[in-house]
Amino acid sequence: MSRKKVLIVDADVASRNFIARKLLEQKYDVMQAGSGKEGLIFAWRDHPDLIIVDPVLADVAGEEIAARLKQDPRTQDVPLIALSGDQTHGRIKSCLDAGFNEYITKSGQAVATLNDTISRLFGLTVDEMKQGGLSIIFISAKGGTGTSSMCANLAMNIAHYQPEANVAVLDLVLPIGSIAPIVGYEGGQNIVTITDMPPAKTTPDFFHRELPQMGVWQFNLLAGSPDPESSNQLKVGRIWDVVTALKASYDYVLIDIGRSLSKITLPLIQHADLVTLIVSTDVSTISLTKTLWDYLKGKGVPPNSLFTILNRAVGLEGLSKTDAENQLGIKINMSMPYLGTNFAFANSHHQPFSLKFPKDTASIIFQDTAKEMAILAQKVRLG
Ligand SMILES: Nc1ncnc2c1ncn2[C@@H]1O[C@H](COP(=O)(O)OP(=O)(O)OP(=O)(O)O)[C@@H](O)[C@H]1O
Ligand SMILES: [Mg+2]
Repeated sequence: MSRKKVLIVDADVASRNFIARKLLEQKYDVMQAGSGKEGLIFAWRDHPDLIIVDPVLADVAGEEIAARLKQDPRTQDVPLIALSGDQTHGRIKSCLDAGFNEYITKSGQAVATLNDTISRLFGLTVDEMKQGGLSIIFISAKGGTGTSSMCANLAMNIAHYQPEANVAVLDLVLPIGSIAPIVGYEGGQNIVTITDMPPAKTTPDFFHRELPQMGVWQFNLLAGSPDPESSNQLKVGRIWDVVTALKASYDYVLIDIGRSLSKITLPLIQHADLVTLIVSTDVSTISLTKTLWDYLKGKGVPPNSLFTILNRAVGLEGLSKTDAENQLGIKINMSMPYLGTNFAFANSHHQPFSLKFPKDTASIIFQDTAKEMAILAQKVRLG
Protein backbone atom coordinates (compact mmCIF):
# COMPACT_ATOMS: atom_id res chain seq x y z
CA MET A 1 0.00 0.00 0.00
CA SER A 2 1.44 3.41 -0.90
CA ARG A 3 1.94 5.95 1.86
CA LYS A 4 -0.92 8.33 2.52
CA LYS A 5 -0.30 12.04 2.04
CA VAL A 6 -1.49 14.44 4.75
CA LEU A 7 -1.60 18.22 4.32
CA ILE A 8 -1.35 20.38 7.46
CA VAL A 9 -2.62 23.95 7.22
CA ASP A 10 -1.63 25.96 10.29
CA ALA A 11 -0.18 29.46 10.67
CA ASP A 12 1.77 28.44 13.78
CA VAL A 13 5.08 26.95 12.61
CA ALA A 14 5.86 25.21 15.91
CA SER A 15 2.47 23.54 16.09
CA ARG A 16 2.68 22.54 12.39
CA ASN A 17 6.13 21.02 12.80
CA PHE A 18 5.08 19.14 15.90
CA ILE A 19 2.09 17.56 14.18
CA ALA A 20 4.19 16.86 11.08
CA ARG A 21 6.75 14.97 13.17
CA LYS A 22 4.04 12.90 14.83
CA LEU A 23 2.51 12.02 11.45
CA LEU A 24 5.87 11.06 9.97
CA GLU A 25 6.28 8.63 12.89
CA GLN A 26 3.01 7.05 11.75
CA LYS A 27 4.49 6.63 8.24
CA TYR A 28 2.39 9.27 6.54
CA ASP A 29 3.85 11.64 3.97
CA VAL A 30 3.37 15.19 5.18
CA MET A 31 2.96 18.54 3.42
CA GLN A 32 2.65 21.85 5.21
CA ALA A 33 1.01 25.17 4.42
CA GLY A 34 1.32 28.31 6.56
CA SER A 35 -1.76 30.15 5.34
CA GLY A 36 -5.26 29.45 4.09
CA LYS A 37 -4.46 30.51 0.52
CA GLU A 38 -1.37 28.31 0.40
CA GLY A 39 -3.42 25.47 1.90
CA LEU A 40 -6.03 25.69 -0.88
CA ILE A 41 -3.37 25.80 -3.60
CA PHE A 42 -1.51 22.77 -2.19
CA ALA A 43 -4.75 20.87 -1.68
CA TRP A 44 -5.81 21.30 -5.31
CA ARG A 45 -2.34 20.86 -6.76
CA ASP A 46 -0.92 17.97 -4.71
CA HIS A 47 -3.97 15.78 -4.04
CA PRO A 48 -3.45 14.97 -0.35
CA ASP A 49 -5.40 11.99 1.06
CA LEU A 50 -6.38 13.99 4.15
CA ILE A 51 -6.21 17.62 5.25
CA ILE A 52 -5.76 18.98 8.77
CA VAL A 53 -6.62 22.66 9.21
CA ASP A 54 -6.28 24.96 12.19
CA PRO A 55 -9.42 27.01 11.50
CA VAL A 56 -7.91 30.09 13.17
CA LEU A 57 -5.97 31.48 10.20
CA ALA A 58 -5.25 35.11 9.36
CA ASP A 59 -6.21 35.15 5.69
CA VAL A 60 -9.08 32.70 5.17
CA ALA A 61 -11.26 31.30 7.96
CA GLY A 62 -11.19 27.52 8.36
CA GLU A 63 -14.92 27.35 7.64
CA GLU A 64 -14.38 28.99 4.26
CA ILE A 65 -11.49 26.66 3.44
CA ALA A 66 -13.71 23.68 4.25
CA ALA A 67 -16.55 25.03 2.12
CA ARG A 68 -14.25 25.66 -0.85
CA LEU A 69 -12.56 22.24 -0.59
CA LYS A 70 -15.94 20.50 -0.37
CA GLN A 71 -17.25 22.40 -3.41
CA ASP A 72 -14.32 21.51 -5.62
CA PRO A 73 -14.46 18.12 -7.34
CA ARG A 74 -10.70 17.64 -6.80
CA THR A 75 -11.05 17.75 -3.03
CA GLN A 76 -14.71 17.12 -2.23
CA ASP A 77 -14.08 13.56 -1.01
CA VAL A 78 -10.88 14.30 0.92
CA PRO A 79 -11.45 13.92 4.70
CA LEU A 80 -11.00 17.18 6.61
CA ILE A 81 -10.00 17.51 10.24
CA ALA A 82 -10.14 20.76 12.20
CA LEU A 83 -7.37 20.90 14.81
CA SER A 84 -7.99 23.96 16.91
CA GLY A 85 -7.23 25.71 20.17
CA ASP A 86 -10.76 27.11 20.10
CA GLN A 87 -12.99 24.93 22.24
CA THR A 88 -16.17 27.01 21.99
CA HIS A 89 -19.33 25.20 21.04
CA GLY A 90 -20.11 27.83 18.37
CA ARG A 91 -16.79 27.32 16.59
CA ILE A 92 -17.05 23.54 16.71
CA LYS A 93 -20.54 23.70 15.24
CA SER A 94 -19.67 26.20 12.50
CA CYS A 95 -16.67 24.08 11.45
CA LEU A 96 -18.64 20.83 11.33
CA ASP A 97 -21.45 22.61 9.45
CA ALA A 98 -18.93 23.97 6.95
CA GLY A 99 -17.74 20.48 6.02
CA PHE A 100 -15.09 19.35 8.47
CA ASN A 101 -15.46 15.62 9.18
CA GLU A 102 -14.02 15.94 12.69
CA TYR A 103 -13.10 18.67 15.16
CA ILE A 104 -10.21 18.02 17.54
CA THR A 105 -9.14 20.49 20.19
CA LYS A 106 -5.44 21.11 20.80
CA SER A 107 -4.80 19.52 24.18
CA GLY A 108 -2.59 16.88 25.77
CA GLN A 109 -4.74 14.22 24.12
CA ALA A 110 -4.70 15.82 20.67
CA VAL A 111 -2.03 13.64 19.07
CA ALA A 112 -3.58 10.37 20.22
CA THR A 113 -7.03 11.54 19.13
CA LEU A 114 -5.64 12.76 15.83
CA ASN A 115 -3.94 9.43 15.11
CA ASP A 116 -7.10 7.52 15.94
CA THR A 117 -9.23 9.84 13.84
CA ILE A 118 -6.91 9.70 10.84
CA SER A 119 -6.76 5.92 10.78
CA ARG A 120 -10.52 5.78 11.16
CA LEU A 121 -11.09 8.24 8.31
CA PHE A 122 -8.61 6.38 6.09
CA GLY A 123 -10.16 3.04 6.93
CA LEU A 124 -13.45 4.49 5.88
CA THR A 125 -12.67 5.04 2.27
CA VAL A 126 -15.35 3.21 0.34
CA ASP A 127 -12.77 1.84 -2.07
CA GLU A 128 -11.01 -0.05 0.70
CA MET A 129 -14.23 -1.28 2.22
CA LYS A 130 -15.35 -2.62 -1.14
CA GLN A 131 -12.19 -4.63 -1.62
CA GLY A 132 -11.10 -7.95 -0.24
CA GLY A 133 -13.29 -10.39 1.63
CA LEU A 134 -17.00 -9.93 2.18
CA SER A 135 -17.98 -8.35 5.48
CA ILE A 136 -21.08 -9.57 7.25
CA ILE A 137 -22.30 -7.66 10.29
CA PHE A 138 -24.38 -9.19 13.11
CA ILE A 139 -26.36 -6.62 15.04
CA SER A 140 -29.36 -6.50 17.32
CA ALA A 141 -31.44 -3.84 19.03
CA LYS A 142 -31.55 -5.73 22.31
CA GLY A 143 -29.33 -8.14 24.21
CA GLY A 144 -29.91 -11.84 24.55
CA THR A 145 -31.48 -12.25 21.11
CA GLY A 146 -28.86 -14.82 20.14
CA THR A 147 -26.64 -12.56 18.01
CA SER A 148 -23.33 -14.06 19.09
CA SER A 149 -24.57 -17.66 18.86
CA MET A 150 -25.95 -16.96 15.38
CA CYS A 151 -22.71 -15.28 14.30
CA ALA A 152 -20.51 -18.17 15.44
CA ASN A 153 -22.79 -20.88 14.06
CA LEU A 154 -23.37 -19.21 10.72
CA ALA A 155 -19.63 -18.53 10.34
CA MET A 156 -19.02 -22.23 10.89
CA ASN A 157 -21.66 -23.13 8.33
CA ILE A 158 -20.29 -20.69 5.74
CA ALA A 159 -16.82 -22.22 6.20
CA HIS A 160 -18.36 -25.69 5.92
CA TYR A 161 -20.30 -24.83 2.77
CA GLN A 162 -17.23 -23.27 1.14
CA PRO A 163 -14.28 -25.33 2.44
CA GLU A 164 -11.85 -23.43 0.24
CA ALA A 165 -12.85 -20.08 1.76
CA ASN A 166 -11.01 -18.53 4.71
CA VAL A 167 -13.47 -17.25 7.28
CA ALA A 168 -12.66 -14.87 10.14
CA VAL A 169 -14.91 -13.77 12.99
CA LEU A 170 -14.32 -10.47 14.75
CA ASP A 171 -16.02 -9.78 18.07
CA LEU A 172 -16.68 -6.07 18.58
CA VAL A 173 -19.25 -6.32 21.35
CA LEU A 174 -18.43 -3.98 24.21
CA PRO A 175 -17.68 -4.08 27.05
CA ILE A 176 -17.28 -7.90 26.95
CA GLY A 177 -17.18 -10.09 23.87
CA SER A 178 -18.84 -13.49 24.02
CA ILE A 179 -17.69 -15.41 20.96
CA ALA A 180 -14.53 -16.61 22.75
CA PRO A 181 -16.51 -18.32 25.55
CA ILE A 182 -18.90 -19.83 23.00
CA VAL A 183 -16.14 -21.39 20.89
CA GLY A 184 -13.89 -22.11 23.89
CA TYR A 185 -10.99 -19.81 23.00
CA GLU A 186 -8.85 -19.06 26.02
CA GLY A 187 -5.84 -17.37 24.43
CA GLY A 188 -4.71 -13.87 25.31
CA GLN A 189 -5.09 -12.29 21.88
CA ASN A 190 -8.12 -10.04 21.40
CA ILE A 191 -9.25 -6.81 19.76
CA VAL A 192 -7.77 -4.76 22.61
CA THR A 193 -4.29 -6.33 22.41
CA ILE A 194 -4.33 -6.20 18.62
CA THR A 195 -5.31 -2.53 18.35
CA ASP A 196 -2.58 -1.78 20.88
CA MET A 197 0.05 -3.03 18.42
CA PRO A 198 1.78 -0.58 16.07
CA PRO A 199 -0.16 -0.21 12.79
CA ALA A 200 2.85 -1.39 10.81
CA LYS A 201 2.58 -4.82 12.47
CA THR A 202 -1.11 -5.61 11.97
CA THR A 203 -0.81 -6.34 8.29
CA PRO A 204 -3.03 -8.75 6.29
CA ASP A 205 -0.17 -11.23 6.42
CA PHE A 206 -0.05 -10.95 10.20
CA PHE A 207 -3.76 -11.76 10.46
CA HIS A 208 -3.35 -14.62 8.03
CA ARG A 209 -0.58 -16.14 10.16
CA GLU A 210 -1.50 -15.16 13.69
CA LEU A 211 -5.27 -15.35 14.10
CA PRO A 212 -5.97 -18.58 15.97
CA GLN A 213 -7.99 -21.26 14.19
CA MET A 214 -11.00 -22.48 16.17
CA GLY A 215 -10.83 -26.18 15.27
CA VAL A 216 -14.30 -27.65 14.62
CA TRP A 217 -15.67 -24.13 14.15
CA GLN A 218 -13.57 -23.88 10.99
CA PHE A 219 -12.98 -20.15 11.33
CA ASN A 220 -10.24 -17.94 12.73
CA LEU A 221 -11.17 -15.68 15.62
CA LEU A 222 -10.22 -12.19 16.63
CA ALA A 223 -11.77 -12.33 20.10
CA GLY A 224 -13.56 -9.46 21.77
CA SER A 225 -12.71 -7.43 24.81
CA PRO A 226 -12.32 -9.82 27.77
CA ASP A 227 -13.61 -7.40 30.44
CA PRO A 228 -14.88 -3.83 30.91
CA GLU A 229 -11.48 -2.51 31.99
CA SER A 230 -9.86 -3.74 28.76
CA SER A 231 -12.76 -2.30 26.83
CA ASN A 232 -11.91 1.15 28.23
CA GLN A 233 -8.38 0.74 26.85
CA LEU A 234 -9.56 -0.16 23.35
CA LYS A 235 -7.96 2.04 20.71
CA VAL A 236 -11.10 2.50 18.67
CA GLY A 237 -9.37 4.49 15.96
CA ARG A 238 -7.45 1.38 14.95
CA ILE A 239 -10.54 -0.71 14.27
CA TRP A 240 -10.78 0.50 10.69
CA ASP A 241 -7.38 -0.67 9.59
CA VAL A 242 -7.83 -3.94 11.49
CA VAL A 243 -11.04 -4.63 9.58
CA THR A 244 -9.44 -3.60 6.28
CA ALA A 245 -6.45 -5.87 6.94
CA LEU A 246 -8.76 -8.76 7.91
CA LYS A 247 -10.70 -8.28 4.69
CA ALA A 248 -7.45 -8.36 2.76
CA SER A 249 -6.59 -11.82 4.09
CA TYR A 250 -9.96 -13.58 4.59
CA ASP A 251 -12.75 -14.31 2.14
CA TYR A 252 -15.41 -13.65 4.76
CA VAL A 253 -15.19 -11.44 7.82
CA LEU A 254 -18.16 -11.86 10.15
CA ILE A 255 -18.39 -9.11 12.74
CA ASP A 256 -20.44 -9.43 15.90
CA ILE A 257 -21.51 -5.92 16.91
CA GLY A 258 -24.41 -7.04 19.07
CA ARG A 259 -25.88 -3.97 20.74
CA SER A 260 -22.65 -1.99 20.47
CA LEU A 261 -23.84 0.39 17.75
CA SER A 262 -21.81 3.60 18.01
CA LYS A 263 -20.03 6.23 15.96
CA ILE A 264 -17.21 3.67 15.68
CA THR A 265 -19.24 0.74 14.42
CA LEU A 266 -21.72 2.68 12.27
CA PRO A 267 -19.36 3.14 9.30
CA LEU A 268 -18.61 -0.60 9.33
CA ILE A 269 -22.33 -1.23 9.02
CA GLN A 270 -22.71 1.41 6.31
CA HIS A 271 -20.05 -0.26 4.18
CA ALA A 272 -20.80 -3.89 4.97
CA ASP A 273 -21.72 -6.33 2.26
CA LEU A 274 -24.46 -7.77 4.45
CA VAL A 275 -26.09 -6.48 7.62
CA THR A 276 -27.66 -9.29 9.61
CA LEU A 277 -30.30 -8.07 12.02
CA ILE A 278 -31.21 -10.52 14.77
CA VAL A 279 -34.74 -10.08 16.07
CA SER A 280 -36.58 -12.00 18.75
CA THR A 281 -40.34 -12.33 18.86
CA ASP A 282 -41.32 -10.18 21.83
CA VAL A 283 -43.14 -6.94 21.16
CA SER A 284 -40.53 -4.68 22.77
CA THR A 285 -37.63 -6.14 20.74
CA ILE A 286 -39.65 -5.73 17.55
CA SER A 287 -40.32 -2.08 18.27
CA LEU A 288 -36.68 -1.36 19.23
CA THR A 289 -35.57 -3.16 16.09
CA LYS A 290 -37.83 -0.95 13.99
CA THR A 291 -36.22 2.13 15.55
CA LEU A 292 -32.75 0.67 14.87
CA TRP A 293 -33.51 -0.21 11.26
CA ASP A 294 -35.10 3.20 10.54
CA TYR A 295 -31.95 4.80 11.93
CA LEU A 296 -29.62 2.64 9.85
CA LYS A 297 -31.69 3.24 6.72
CA GLY A 298 -31.48 6.98 7.40
CA LYS A 299 -27.70 6.59 7.63
CA GLY A 300 -27.58 5.11 4.15
CA VAL A 301 -27.49 1.38 4.89
CA PRO A 302 -29.03 0.00 1.70
CA PRO A 303 -32.15 -2.16 2.23
CA ASN A 304 -30.78 -4.75 -0.20
CA SER A 305 -27.88 -5.46 2.14
CA LEU A 306 -30.23 -6.29 5.03
CA PHE A 307 -30.67 -9.91 6.14
CA THR A 308 -33.15 -10.46 8.96
CA ILE A 309 -33.19 -13.45 11.26
CA LEU A 310 -36.12 -14.02 13.59
CA ASN A 311 -34.70 -16.02 16.45
CA ARG A 312 -36.93 -17.48 19.12
CA ALA A 313 -34.22 -17.23 21.73
CA VAL A 314 -36.42 -17.15 24.80
CA GLY A 315 -39.32 -19.49 24.17
CA LEU A 316 -42.26 -20.37 22.05
CA GLU A 317 -44.42 -17.38 22.88
CA GLY A 318 -44.31 -14.09 21.01
CA LEU A 319 -45.32 -12.79 17.63
CA SER A 320 -45.70 -14.89 14.50
CA LYS A 321 -43.33 -14.30 11.60
CA THR A 322 -46.05 -12.49 9.62
CA ASP A 323 -46.93 -10.22 12.55
CA ALA A 324 -43.24 -9.47 13.10
CA GLU A 325 -42.81 -8.66 9.39
CA ASN A 326 -45.82 -6.37 9.43
CA GLN A 327 -44.69 -4.50 12.51
CA LEU A 328 -41.13 -4.16 11.25
CA GLY A 329 -42.06 -3.33 7.69
CA ILE A 330 -39.28 -5.60 6.47
CA LYS A 331 -39.10 -9.13 5.19
CA ILE A 332 -37.72 -11.80 7.50
CA ASN A 333 -35.20 -13.95 5.67
CA MET A 334 -34.89 -16.76 8.17
CA SER A 335 -36.72 -18.00 11.25
CA MET A 336 -34.94 -20.03 13.87
CA PRO A 337 -37.26 -22.01 16.15
CA TYR A 338 -36.87 -22.16 19.90
CA LEU A 339 -34.30 -24.89 20.49
CA GLY A 340 -34.98 -25.42 24.15
CA THR A 341 -31.83 -26.02 26.13
CA ASN A 342 -30.04 -27.62 23.17
CA PHE A 343 -28.52 -24.37 21.99
CA ALA A 344 -27.22 -23.44 25.42
CA PHE A 345 -25.98 -27.03 25.75
CA ALA A 346 -24.01 -26.87 22.48
CA ASN A 347 -22.65 -23.42 23.47
CA SER A 348 -21.55 -24.58 26.89
CA HIS A 349 -19.72 -27.51 25.27
CA HIS A 350 -18.09 -25.07 22.84
CA GLN A 351 -19.57 -27.04 19.94
CA PRO A 352 -21.27 -25.78 16.79
CA PHE A 353 -24.96 -26.63 17.00
CA SER A 354 -24.92 -28.56 13.74
CA LEU A 355 -22.10 -30.77 14.97
CA LYS A 356 -23.77 -31.52 18.29
CA PHE A 357 -27.26 -31.99 16.83
CA PRO A 358 -26.78 -32.83 13.15
CA LYS A 359 -30.28 -34.35 12.82
CA ASP A 360 -32.11 -31.34 14.26
CA THR A 361 -33.98 -29.28 11.64
CA ALA A 362 -32.18 -26.23 13.02
CA SER A 363 -28.94 -27.67 11.60
CA ILE A 364 -30.51 -27.65 8.14
CA ILE A 365 -31.76 -24.10 8.72
CA PHE A 366 -28.21 -23.03 9.65
CA GLN A 367 -26.83 -24.68 6.51
CA ASP A 368 -29.39 -23.14 4.17
CA THR A 369 -29.09 -19.73 5.80
CA ALA A 370 -25.29 -19.72 5.58
CA LYS A 371 -25.51 -20.52 1.88
CA GLU A 372 -28.15 -17.87 1.29
CA MET A 373 -26.14 -15.24 3.16
CA ALA A 374 -22.94 -16.01 1.25
CA ILE A 375 -24.77 -15.72 -2.07
CA LEU A 376 -26.55 -12.52 -1.07
CA ALA A 377 -23.33 -10.89 0.19
CA GLN A 378 -21.65 -11.67 -3.17
CA LYS A 379 -24.63 -10.17 -4.98
CA VAL A 380 -24.57 -6.98 -2.89
CA ARG A 381 -20.81 -6.64 -3.50
CA LEU A 382 -21.28 -6.92 -7.26
CA GLY A 383 -23.95 -4.22 -7.04
N1 LIG B 1 -33.24 -20.22 19.07
C1 LIG B 1 -32.82 -20.39 20.30
N2 LIG B 1 -33.35 -21.34 21.08
C2 LIG B 1 -32.92 -21.54 22.35
N3 LIG B 1 -31.94 -20.85 22.93
C3 LIG B 1 -31.36 -19.87 22.22
C4 LIG B 1 -31.76 -19.60 20.86
N4 LIG B 1 -30.99 -18.59 20.41
C5 LIG B 1 -30.16 -18.24 21.43
N5 LIG B 1 -30.36 -19.01 22.50
C6 LIG B 1 -29.66 -18.93 23.79
O1 LIG B 1 -29.75 -17.60 24.26
C7 LIG B 1 -28.60 -17.27 25.01
C8 LIG B 1 -28.04 -15.94 24.56
O2 LIG B 1 -27.44 -16.10 23.31
P1 LIG B 1 -26.29 -15.15 22.76
O3 LIG B 1 -25.23 -14.98 23.76
O4 LIG B 1 -25.94 -15.65 21.43
O5 LIG B 1 -27.14 -13.81 22.62
P2 LIG B 1 -26.62 -12.34 22.34
O6 LIG B 1 -27.72 -11.64 21.60
O7 LIG B 1 -25.32 -12.38 21.67
O8 LIG B 1 -26.50 -11.78 23.81
P3 LIG B 1 -25.66 -10.51 24.35
O9 LIG B 1 -26.61 -9.39 24.36
O10 LIG B 1 -25.24 -10.94 25.72
O11 LIG B 1 -24.51 -10.30 23.44
C9 LIG B 1 -27.61 -18.41 24.83
O12 LIG B 1 -27.61 -19.20 25.99
C10 LIG B 1 -28.15 -19.20 23.66
O13 LIG B 1 -27.83 -20.54 23.75
MG1 LIG C 1 -23.53 -11.40 22.18
